[in-house]
Amino acid sequence: MMGDDETTGPTAADRPATMGADVLVAASGLRVYFPIRSGTPLRGVVGHVRAVDGVDLEVRRGETLGLVGESGCGKSTLGNALLRLVEPTAGRVEFDGTDVTSLPASELRSLRRRMAMIFQDPYASLDPRRTVGDCIGEPLAIHRLHRGRARRAARVGELMEIVGLNPDHRGRYPHEFSGGQRQRVGIARALAGEPDFIVCDEPIASLDVSVQATVLNLLVRLQRELGLTYLFVSHDLAAVRQIADRVAVMYLGRVVEVGAASSLVSKPEHPYTEALVSAVPVPEPERERERRRIVLAGDIPSPAAPPSGCRFRTRCPKVFEPCPDHDPVLQAVGGSASVEQFAACHLHGVTTTPPPSSPSSR
Ligand SMILES: Nc1ncnc2c1ncn2[C@@H]1O[C@H](COP(=O)(O)OP(=O)(O)O)[C@@H](O)[C@H]1O
Ligand SMILES: [Mg+2]
Repeated sequence: MMGDDETTGPTAADRPATMGADVLVAASGLRVYFPIRSGTPLRGVVGHVRAVDGVDLEVRRGETLGLVGESGCGKSTLGNALLRLVEPTAGRVEFDGTDVTSLPASELRSLRRRMAMIFQDPYASLDPRRTVGDCIGEPLAIHRLHRGRARRAARVGELMEIVGLNPDHRGRYPHEFSGGQRQRVGIARALAGEPDFIVCDEPIASLDVSVQATVLNLLVRLQRELGLTYLFVSHDLAAVRQIADRVAVMYLGRVVEVGAASSLVSKPEHPYTEALVSAVPVPEPERERERRRIVLAGDIPSPAAPPSGCRFRTRCPKVFEPCPDHDPVLQAVGGSASVEQFAACHLHGVTTTPPPSSPSSR
C-alpha cells in the first residue's frame, strides 16, 4: 500500500514504476468507466458508470488479499482490470514489475499465462459442448504448453488429480458433474498455465453450503503447495477473514480501507468497515450478545454519480464538516510494522485527492 509520504503528494498514478520486491500486482490510480448510452439506436454517451474510480492496491507475493464490499461496488471489474480482461480508463496495473496497461498484445500473451481467474459460476464459464478434458486443456493449447497429444493428455490428467477429480472422467461434459466438481474443473483450468496470480471471484458463492468448505480448503491447499497469490473476491466479510491475510474493503468504486484481516476486523478504522464488521456474528456467546449491528441509512448511490467529497458520506453515521468537499485518500491509520492499515476517512485527518482525469484522456 501507499506509504505515509504518499498520502498528500502526487497521486499514485504519478509515482515512478518502482514497487517492493514483495509486491506481485499493483494498481495505481486505476479507473474503469463504462459508457452509458441512450437514444434509439443507442448512440449518444450520456454518462459513465464509474465501476472502479481511483483504486490504489498492492497484492503481495504469496498472500491472499480479500476484496470485500456490497454487490455492485466494483469488485469484479477491479479483478478483471488487474488481469486486463477489461481496459482501464485511466491509471496503471503492474504485474511483477511490468506495466501491463501499456503492453502490446503480443507481450501481454506471455504474461497472461501467469494470471488466471476462477469464476463464481463455473457452469457459465465452461463451454457445455466441450468435454471437461478439453475445457481444462484449452489454456495449454493457447499458451502452447505440453505440446503433443500424449503430453497434453497427461497434463490434463495430472491437473484433474491435483484438484481431486478422477482423470477417467475427462471425457464427460460439465453438466454431468455436481456444482462442487464443476468448480474443481474451473480450478484445474485456471491452474493449467501454471499461474502465479489467481483472481478468485466469489468462487464458492454459488455452491451448496455443504461443499463450500471443501472447495475453500482445496484453494488453500493449492496456494500452499503451488505458491500462489490470490485476490479473493467476496461480498461476505465473515468468509473472507477466515482465509485472507489482508483484506481490502471497497465502496462505490474505491478501496476505503485495507489492512491485516485480523486487525481490520478487530479494529476497523473506516465507518463503512465498522458497519460491515458489525454484521458478522462472533463465535463467543458473550461478545455476540453485545454485538450491535450498525444499519446504514439509505441506498448505495449510483456509481454514475457518486457523491461529492467522501462518497460514503451520504450513509456515514459519523459524517462531519469536511466530508462533502474533500475526497479522502488512503492514509496509514495503524496496524503493525509489517502489515500497515490504511483508511480513507477524514476522521483520521482531512486529506484530499485531486479530481479524476477525464475518461477521454486515455
Ligand atoms: N460491462 C459492463 N458494462 C456496463 N456496466 C458494467 C459492466 N460491468 C459492470 N458494470 C457496472 O459496474 C458496477 C460494478 O460492477 P461489478 O464490478 O460487477 O461489481 P461487484 O463485482 O462488486 O458486484 C455496477 O454498477 C455494474 O452494473
Ligand atoms: Mg462481482
